[in-house]
Amino acid sequence: MWRSQTLIVALAACLMAVAPAQAILNNTVTQWEAQAQQAVRSIGIQNQLSNRLYGLVALAQLHAIEKLSTLDPVIAAGGAGHAVLSILFPSNQSAEYDGLLKKQLDAATGGKALTDAQKAGLKAAAALAGDLVRNHTGGASAEYSGFKFGAPGPFVYQLAPGQKYALYPQLGNAKPFVVPQPELSAIVTNTDAAKGPVFKVPPISDYETARKLGANTTDKALGETALFWADGANTSAISGHWLDIAKRVLPSTLSVKDSALFFAKAFTGAWDASIAAWKIKYSTLHWRPVTAFRAGYTGPDGPVAADKEWTGFLTRTPPHPEYPSGHQATVGALLEALVRQLGTDKVEFSIGSEGTPFLPERKYTDLTTPAVEVGDSRLYGGVHFNTSNVDGLIVGRVVASKAWDSPFWNTKAAASAPAKASTPAAKPSAPKAGSPKPSAPKAGASPKPDAAKPAAPTDKPAATKP
Ligand SMILES: *[C@@H]1O[C@H](CO)[C@@H](O)[C@H](O)[C@H]1NC(C)=O
Ligand SMILES: *[C@@H]1O[C@H](CO)[C@@H](O)[C@H](O)[C@H]1NC(C)=O
Ligand SMILES: *[C@@H]1O[C@H](CO)[C@@H](O)[C@H](O)[C@H]1NC(C)=O
Ligand SMILES: *[C@@H]1O[C@H](CO)[C@@H](O)[C@H](O)[C@H]1NC(C)=O
Ligand SMILES: *[C@@H]1O[C@H](CO)[C@@H](O)[C@H](O)[C@H]1NC(C)=O
Ligand SMILES: *[C@@H]1O[C@H](CO)[C@@H](O)[C@H](O)[C@H]1NC(C)=O
Repeated sequence: MWRSQTLIVALAACLMAVAPAQAILNNTVTQWEAQAQQAVRSIGIQNQLSNRLYGLVALAQLHAIEKLSTLDPVIAAGGAGHAVLSILFPSNQSAEYDGLLKKQLDAATGGKALTDAQKAGLKAAAALAGDLVRNHTGGASAEYSGFKFGAPGPFVYQLAPGQKYALYPQLGNAKPFVVPQPELSAIVTNTDAAKGPVFKVPPISDYETARKLGANTTDKALGETALFWADGANTSAISGHWLDIAKRVLPSTLSVKDSALFFAKAFTGAWDASIAAWKIKYSTLHWRPVTAFRAGYTGPDGPVAADKEWTGFLTRTPPHPEYPSGHQATVGALLEALVRQLGTDKVEFSIGSEGTPFLPERKYTDLTTPAVEVGDSRLYGGVHFNTSNVDGLIVGRVVASKAWDSPFWNTKAAASAPAKASTPAAKPSAPKAGSPKPSAPKAGASPKPDAAKPAAPTDKPAATKP
């Protein structure tokens, strides 16, 4: 009696502790995104370029599903996903990608041989995917930018000790998927708060917090948060981290077509937002905390002495200008897409971190909290000032909002999007006209690159994914 009661109590406790497993979206679209995530991990593709990769996979799938409307969406999306990754990562084509495609085709056909129409469909899907990949992997993003470092001085971006190159100065000129370049330029250069957010480098009043919190190696909670969202080497990047969040908060029954539409909208928006962020980065050329604190500067209360030993908690500062946060441009874009899709910010989920398998999953009841937390993690990591995180999130949301509403999606797929997705948009939170906006440091805030020292642009993967 006693034993069985104990057993029942133990069993009940067990059931309560292990909440019903979250149903995670797993279909033809996410399976190819998972292959893309693996490529990002193993090759060390940066956050921004991984946005483009995740966007290419889903957009190719969406094109194939729409254009080959008589084909089973699983076959169309399978063929397109297979083609994108086989083109970009040929070494995994036969062992990994052919195997996954075969599984998907077998599931779609019940193991039967493909009909001639299905074979032709697969070829057509591959051709569409090839066209898309060609369109988006060359162009201005591959051109030499002629970027020059400014002479060292207050507020001027410099490489951190040990760094050899600045990360893709040409990215601001890259070809967007959805929001045209002139619109991105208008967003980032806006000076009228009544028309939208005004992007200005962090005020000097941000510095003291960044100096203290960014170097604090004794506060366990701050350090864990910095590591949890760092998503550096051997991870699928912050973009992949939020891709995993999407798989947990979207209905696990989302159709293949609607999944392709969602991931295409989300990641093309995130790529376009990254372009906008890079325009700001390489026009403001704001220094990183490590450069500022080691150089010294004049703060609100007078001179602050150089601290030659100051080191951020994340010892590797990303190799590109500080303002705004690249992490947050991505997260803002993906947050906006998720809120638009779900029609709400309120959703319960938990998520772990590939980069910190030793830390437990974190639980959330909305999407904005973790998004802001990612920004704070960059402050605690010592790689950003607070305003850069706040404004990074804004630029991400604003660009993604434009991308989401673009006529680009006025297609059959867009029309069949889930009713939920068309719920009145949650407005991007930030760009309130007249909201208090920190003012920029005066002198040298936007140094023009000087003509002295050419720096070679490079796409070489860096150890730290921005
Ligand atoms: C998704 O489903 C496929 C097919 O059922 C399965 O082989 C695969 O392991 C699943 N992936 C995940 C991440 O659960
Ligand atoms: C290719 O597949 C292998 C085996 O699964 C994996 O270890 C590697 O990371 C993959 N490479 C790419 C580029 O995805
Ligand atoms: C690729 O670019 C060409 C030329 O601009 C355009 O005609 C074609 O529709 C594009 N294809 C895709 C899939 O984006
Ligand atoms: C660093 O963290 C410790 C432990 O939480 C805390 O006591 C200390 O005040 C923090 N230091 C700074 C400079 O924030
Ligand atoms: C990433 O993986 C490589 C190869 O397995 C390993 O050498 C490296 O230490 C890893 N980096 C991190 C930061 O875990
Ligand atoms: C960052 O700035 C925002 C907006 O001013 C503020 O609400 C937030 O508390 C700041 N965060 C930190 C960690 O200082």
